[in-house]
Amino acid sequence: MIIAANLKTNLTREKTAKYIKEVESFLSKNSISQEVIVFPAISSLNLHVGKVTVGAQNAYPAINGAFTGETGYEQLEEFGIKTILIGHSERRHVIGETQGMLVKKFNFYKELGFKIIYCVGEPLAVREAGHDKMMEYISNQYEGIDASYEKLIIAYEPVWAIGTGLTPTLEDIVAIHKELKEKSSAPLLYGGSVKVTNAKEVLALDGVDGILVGSAALYAEHFCTMCEYAQKLDK
Ligand code: 13P
Repeated sequence: MIIAANLKTNLTREKTAKYIKEVESFLSKNSISQEVIVFPAISSLNLHVGKVTVGAQNAYPAINGAFTGETGYEQLEEFGIKTILIGHSERRHVIGETQGMLVKKFNFYKELGFKIIYCVGEPLAVREAGHDKMMEYISNQYEGIDASYEKLIIAYEPVWAIGTGLTPTLEDIVAIHKELKEKSSAPLLYGGSVKVTNAKEVLALDGVDGILVGSAALYAEHFCTMCEYAQKLDK
């Protein structure tokens, strides 16, 4: 299974290094063989060799150049980064990234052979508009994306569940994952208010190949517990 931590705009460079060290040592001590990915803030990237894969939360689709404030491939390459998160709801809705921009990023980093974790998910108003409207909205987020890319991982993260403590029911997660699996056979993660208290049951669900965790993953101990749950399930 795939257990991923999105640290967002949290932790300093020093605290991130400590965090990754703690996770790394837990994975070794407990012989965890699951795929564990950590996405630190860009300023906390560093060379890392070990069981933890370190990925970038975002990057600009360029090798380098005049893109003030952005990070290009050259800056990722310096730290051996080959994994990137694209389409997170905070980039779509807070930063205002369009589907067109996400597609450019996707294609650029796909060409470079990156592993891509591509996020999809609906805001509350869309969910409340009913099943068909919701699926139409999510389908549009697949527009322009190569759903058969072999290094693709998809994360279903309902926007209203992110950082709110709310989650869909377990039945709803199974149902939507089943529909999303028809769009792509890529591994499919669930994200949105996953905590140590619900991780085990979410991981055990049909069609759930892993989790993408935000706030609860900020505690290395909690994140490690989730990795252990996944190891015990060993789906
Ligand atoms: P929370 O786990 O804080 O809800 O965040 C989920 C998320 O956005 C992971 O990318």
